[in-house]
Amino acid sequence: MAFPSYHASVQAHYEPVPSRARSATQIGVAAAIPEGVGAIAVPVAEDGEIPSEIGLDREALAAAGFEGKIGQSLIVPTAGGPTKIAVGLGQRDELDAAKLRDAAAAFARAAKGHTNVAALCRAFDGIASDDAAQALVEGALLARYRYRAHKPTTEREQPLDRLTLVVDAAELKNAEEGTERAEITARATQLTRDLANAPGTLLTARRMAEIAESVAKESGLDIEVFDEEALAQLGCGGLLGVNAGSAEPPRMIRLTYRPKDAKGKAIEPVGHVALVGKGIMYDSGGISLKPNDLVHATMKVDMSGAASVLAAMSTLAALGCKAAVTGYMMCTDNMPSGKAMKLGDILTVRGGKTVEVLNTDAEGRLVMADALVLATEQTPAPDAIVDIATLTGACQRALGKATAGVIGNTQALVDQLQQSGQRTDETVWPLPLDKRYRKELDSAVADIKNVGGVDAGAITAALFLEEFVNGLPWAHLDIAGTAQLDADDGWRAKGATGFGTRLLIDFLMNFTPPRATRH
Ligand code: BES
Ligand code: ZN
Ligand code: MN
Repeated sequence: MAFPSYHASVQAHYEPVPSRARSATQIGVAAAIPEGVGAIAVPVAEDGEIPSEIGLDREALAAAGFEGKIGQSLIVPTAGGPTKIAVGLGQRDELDAAKLRDAAAAFARAAKGHTNVAALCRAFDGIASDDAAQALVEGALLARYRYRAHKPTTEREQPLDRLTLVVDAAELKNAEEGTERAEITARATQLTRDLANAPGTLLTARRMAEIAESVAKESGLDIEVFDEEALAQLGCGGLLGVNAGSAEPPRMIRLTYRPKDAKGKAIEPVGHVALVGKGIMYDSGGISLKPNDLVHATMKVDMSGAASVLAAMSTLAALGCKAAVTGYMMCTDNMPSGKAMKLGDILTVRGGKTVEVLNTDAEGRLVMADALVLATEQTPAPDAIVDIATLTGACQRALGKATAGVIGNTQALVDQLQQSGQRTDETVWPLPLDKRYRKELDSAVADIKNVGGVDAGAITAALFLEEFVNGLPWAHLDIAGTAQLDADDGWRAKGATGFGTRLLIDFLMNFTPPRATRH
């Protein structure tokens, strides 16, 4: 049996993005609990009154180990009807959308054997009802996500078919606005997760381009796919260099969104953003092979940045984004072979800068460099360039797995991204673009080296990227730590988290061209 043809046949039958193929969860809002619901969430704070639906007082709940803390849930015994699940909200005056999202996630997990669920969503202090509805639906849908392409569902862990929010009659319309947004943002996050969870051998750069084509068609984006010949024409030596060791060809995918009015007529955008996503389909390290441990096995998620660019852009027409957006997905795997890029090789990236490769595992910045230069060459020049990449283990060391790093040359842009991170609970924290470390990238034989010293790895990586943005407002999101989890945590399901997708959506929807305040 020839191995490649076996793989080709597996590929042909494999649906790498099952969340798109499967009919989505039906989301509804209603003024009363609908018939047929299997489980209902009853939010309970740590203080204040207990909703009458629970039928127990605080002492009884506490005796069962439920205080109303965020993340807590308790199945309340009932004689008949739907299973009631008390879900903790924490202290009432500390409640925010992020906590509601996590409360809904805790509920959805407690109800994981149920396919038809509802949640009481009655006036939460200080949170607009559309935002509350959005957070609850996002939390439930994202917590119930599982990558099911290679594993059937079980009785104990079912996909969610129906989710209804039960709201005050006066809030039906507002709540519906929130649930409609949530359906879009959660579906986008599911797309990112599917792509990132897909095994590297099955989801190749070519397959990624095919999926991007179908997503683009469905969501009103223009798309161009560049193969190795086109990339050579463009002088994209970074992407081609990283691809050299691979049996699979690379792809650069350029997506374009332009705002239109209700009649489909182009309107003047509020600004123009270029997005660049790292799309390493599998990162073995190349000749600088990664140590043979579990870190190696997690590197199929190394295309999470590119996936989130596609997923975020897929929502823009539906959400009515007013900014113009161009997205670059830089896709290849990073493999060792007789043809692979060697240490000491010098690559010429788009625009002519030369890079001495001293570690083939610092490949992300090489593929990103080509796209950053291409972004700067657009006319008109973008008002901001934002890149997103699982770039450095150093960022994960510094900030852990809950918070991503943001580094940029324009404070107003970094601020906008940080605010979007806050609003979506995809939090990002700034690291300094400290120019004193730039000399670590000096090369005797090329314009720049692709690695610095052992310290401040997230910063030297960003300093490398900055070389290619030609002084335009730019910020870089390092999602190495946040892209993947070993265990469920709030809205983030174990495996690929889709982190960055909702952040980018929020950022693009609220984008205002920053004034360049260079560091
Ligand atoms: N894809 C990795 C970074 C990464 C690490 C992502 C952990 C997700 C989790 C990246 O390509 C890489 O290998 N970076 C090197 C850079 C170094 C060689 C300068 C790293 O972080 O060790
Ligand atoms: Zn990588
Ligand atoms: Mn690497």
